Parts: sequence; C-alpha cells; structure tokens
Amino acid sequence: PIPVIIDCDPGHDDVFALWLAAGNPEIDLRGVTTVGGNGRLEHTTHNARVALTVAGVDGVPVASGADKPLRRELTPATWIHGDNALGGPVLPEPTVPLDERGALDLIADLLEGASEPITIVPTGPLTNIAMLLEQRPDLREYIKEIIWMGGSTGRGNVGAYPEFNAWVDPEAADLVFKAGLPLTMVGLNISHQALITEEVIRSIGAIGNDTSAFGVELLRFFCSTYDAVEGMPEGPLHDPITVAIAIDRAVASIQRCHVDVETRGEFTSGATAVDLHDMLKKEPNADIAITLDVPRFWQLIRDAVANLK
Ligand code: BDR
Ligand code: CA
Repeated sequence: PIPVIIDCDPGHDDVFALWLAAGNPEIDLRGVTTVGGNGRLEHTTHNARVALTVAGVDGVPVASGADKPLRRELTPATWIHGDNALGGPVLPEPTVPLDERGALDLIADLLEGASEPITIVPTGPLTNIAMLLEQRPDLREYIKEIIWMGGSTGRGNVGAYPEFNAWVDPEAADLVFKAGLPLTMVGLNISHQALITEEVIRSIGAIGNDTSAFGVELLRFFCSTYDAVEGMPEGPLHDPITVAIAIDRAVASIQRCHVDVETRGEFTSGATAVDLHDMLKKEPNADIAITLDVPRFWQLIRDAVANLK
C-alpha cells in the first residue's frame, strides 16, 4: 500500500477523504494533521478525531497544526460547513486521541521513520505544508509527492476566481507551488464533476453501516448549504478526489503546466493562474487534474465506506 499523510480541515468533504484513505486497501494512512480552514483549529481537529472514531479507525495518529494562515486572519467557511465545520449529524465524543506532538513534528517523525517516501495529501489551506517546507527543507527527500485539493483553472467559490483553500492562505500556496516538489492540483474545475446526486446519497445509505449513516447526514447538510449559497442542490465532494488519484492516477486526466498563485490582486487574491495553454513558456510546476472518471470515483467511495465500521 501507498503510505499517505492527510493534512485536512474537516469539513464534510475532508471526512470522506479520510474515509477513502482509511477504507481503501491500496492506501496506508500513516497520520492525519489538521489546520484552521473550514473551521477554527479546535473544530477541525475535533472533527478529524470524530471522523476516524465513527469509522472505527484507530491507531492512526492525529495532530493539530496551524490555527491561522501564515500572514492573514482566518475566515472559516461557516456558510458551507456550519459553525462547527461539520454541521448536520450529532457528533459523538471522539475516542481517537489527540497526539501530543504538533502537526509538523508528527509529519517529520513519520517522514523520517518511513522506509519509502510518503505521499502528502492536503485537503485544506496549505499553511502546515508551507511551514514544513520552510522549517525542514531536509525532509523534502522523504516526500514522494503532494496531491492537494485547491485552486481552479477557471471559476472560484469565494469570488469570481479564488477557490477557498487557496484564498485562505495564498502565501502558503505560493510557497508550495514554488517548492519544486511533485505536485498535483485538484481544483474546482475537476471537483465540480463529483456531484452528490440523490442516487449517490441513496447508494451510500444502502451500505447500511455506521459510517454510511453518518455520511448520509453529512452529505444532506452539505447539499443543503450548497443549494442555499450557490443554488447547487447537488454539491461537489471536492476533497476525496485527491485520495482517489493517489489510489489510481487513471481516475483523472492530468495536464502538466505552470501555475502562479495570486497573492496581491484587488479582485483575484487567492486565484490560481493555471497556464493551460503555455502562454508564459514557464517551466511547469504542477500536474492539473482535469477530467474525473465519475462512476469510478463514487465506486471507490462506496467500497471504502463499506470496509469501515
Ligand atoms: C475546499 O474548501 C473547503 O470548503 C472544502 O473542504 C474543500 O477543501 C473547496 O473549495
Ligand atoms: Ca477541505
């Protein structure tokens, strides 16, 4: 199995990313770290522990990281994820403990202790990952690749162009795109293909375990806020596409190109300028996920949920 660390801000779709990693036999989930994003750090950390508890996953360390972006204040996405970042179901008291190490120390220990390079999957703002690369450049060689949910080749979701994870901490995203590590960007352009249809919700509910029941409540809440905010009753399940790509790159078509992150624009701060047509003739720095094999993606989700509690 492929060793993976997920750095997340749960968040409804982050929970499914955790479940896909925990429930798919091709992935060895080595650790989970949290960041302020969809909610404040205390909520995203609590929610990560809840997600693993509900699914019966134990033995995976969970550590908390940055409570706010590198150089900005945090604006949590309460309008989509609710006040506790995981609106909808009643949250059980987590039995999965919080690791006493901070996120950066946990990632460092996991990277240094592994016998092969590890894939890092961030599904929130890139604050922790940027700090890691800044503070511990010696660890780069232990990172196989980074597969990040964030950015977009076109539309945004917090403005015309910026996507939430990039917009929360554009300085961190800028640093990661400039780091020169193998990097895949899973942006809104592909995540808006993973629409949570009624049929998807029913098929997940039909699995009939604790995880699926909790998952259906998450999906219903998420779709109701997407409907209220964006007029999309079938919301997009962004984050687990990253894990699906880690499992099997063929689940998406990929185009390699250069990406710049806008950190200063008056109307575009946090936008990713993805040079799909190579107008700038700059060295490519990212693989951009373009088209999703939608049936395969949902099958991976269902199979993983069925393997959990
Ligand atoms: C991203 O922002 C968050 O709301 C989701 O969890 C996802 O990571 C989508 O823009
Ligand atoms: Ca997220």
